[in-house]
Amino acid sequence: MSAREYREKFYGRRKGQKLSARQERLLKEVLPGVSFSVENLDPGSLDPRTLFDFTPTRVWLEIGFGKGEHLALQAQAHPRAGLIGCEPFINGIAGLVTKIHEQGLHNVRIYPDDARHVLEALKHDSIGRVFLLHPDPWPKARHAKRRFVSQANLDALARVMKRGAELRIGTDHPVYMAWTMVQMQPRTDFKWTAGRAADWRIPPAGWYQTRYAAKAKKSDAKCAYLTFVRT
Ligand SMILES: C[S@@+](CC[C@H](N)C(=O)[O-])C[C@H]1O[C@@H](n2cnc3c(N)ncnc32)[C@H](O)[C@@H]1O
Repeated sequence: MSAREYREKFYGRRKGQKLSARQERLLKEVLPGVSFSVENLDPGSLDPRTLFDFTPTRVWLEIGFGKGEHLALQAQAHPRAGLIGCEPFINGIAGLVTKIHEQGLHNVRIYPDDARHVLEALKHDSIGRVFLLHPDPWPKARHAKRRFVSQANLDALARVMKRGAELRIGTDHPVYMAWTMVQMQPRTDFKWTAGRAADWRIPPAGWYQTRYAAKAKKSDAKCAYLTFVRT
């Protein structure tokens, strides 16, 4: 599927509340230096280490970073890792750009659009960890094809992830939890690491909470923390 077709099929919000003057300014002044495009790249040709001004020891990818709290925390905690975040929602991008600016994060790169374009562009075996945290659940059955966890996207993830790389999926939606397990069940290229319920009910060490996880906690929704390993 071409990038153009992907773009046409993106379901979600690209714009929300009006941006403040400061956010507009940071988007104009900071975003160009920390973002990248894949428009003119051949599929499978992008070595993600080349996106950074240093040679990262590993490159991690966050799909749908929201306002970027989790990504910024990971970038701070792992300064030698390169973090790529994909998010088409402009208010979310403004949130992460603000954090990059205020915290002086040197190891973050933003793709301000649909993560599937990046998956298509990336070289195989190039990503050491993937975060998909509280993806839009699209709970109605007739919207199921909009859910990010799908066989096509798992194929793309399996191609770009290194052997042993973790795919961390967090969700507070029971439909999405069940959907994810059904999608993962036939896969031989991903292995679920949980041995018992406590392994997916309690966030493992280094799993930072996101804005959506905090919202879920307030409303007493149960979160599932699912870790799969690329075999
Ligand atoms: C429910 S929000 C969760 C945000 C954040 N991960 C959190 O937990 O706070 C889901 C986010 O995924 C983004 N998203 C949806 N489809 C996407 C895609 N194909 N590529 C990148 N981001 C996507 C949406 O724009 C939205 O910001």
